[in-house]
Amino acid sequence: MAGIDKIFKKGVNVAAAVFLTAACHNTDTAVADNNDELYLHKGDSITSLAQRILVSNVMQAIQTKGVAGAVSFCNERAMPLTDSVAMAVHAGIARLSDKNRNPANAIQTPGDSLAWQKLKAIITDTLATKKHFVLQHSDGNMYYYKAITIAMPACLNCHGSKDAGIAPDALAAINQKYPADKATGYKMGELRGMWKTKMSNTNE
Ligand code: HEC
Repeated sequence: MAGIDKIFKKGVNVAAAVFLTAACHNTDTAVADNNDELYLHKGDSITSLAQRILVSNVMQAIQTKGVAGAVSFCNERAMPLTDSVAMAVHAGIARLSDKNRNPANAIQTPGDSLAWQKLKAIITDTLATKKHFVLQHSDGNMYYYKAITIAMPACLNCHGSKDAGIAPDALAAINQKYPADKATGYKMGELRGMWKTKMSNTNE
């Protein structure tokens, strides 16, 4: 994982970002569980990195531009940022949700639906020791899945209740950019979505 650390320190080259998410939107089905620790570890490192970069950037955007201004930041930068991490580590990274804001982040394929059901089950299962998993899909690749929860009060600025949690100007910005938005009404600790990280099956 030395490469990942290096990239994190150097910062992410947004200009080099390419939209890779289209690759995740096919009819893939999940064919097998894979509990290889190596894949779990690799998937966890990649998604943790992407999460750290996204969260620190959105917090910075809120500080400099306010919440409504930060909505534009997420609109323009969330995908390129995750994609540039994905490119740097030779993986495909997406954030999917059953109540998605960006239409590109919907749970669509049979493989992703199965992963979502599995994730919802383990997240409430107090006996489950692992809260993430890897599935091999019919395309032969390994896909790492991990829950995204409303872990900080700051998330509620843009994903909380429309009446109290989200400020009117932020809500207006959200409605303008995402007319079909479903990603509001969340409370602290709730499941917001999932990371899906595609790794080649060669374990390079
Ligand atoms: C400044 C407003 C803002 C804040 C704060 C914010 N988000 Fe979002 N969130 C957005 C926007 C805008 C999108 C759509 C991004 C895009 O177009 O790719 C989004 C998308 C997402 C998605 C992808 C699925 C979807 O609905 O499209 C997840 C998951 C998510 N946010 C989780 C979180 C979590 C967890 C937090 C707190 C750590 C958070 N967000 C904080 C505005 C925000």
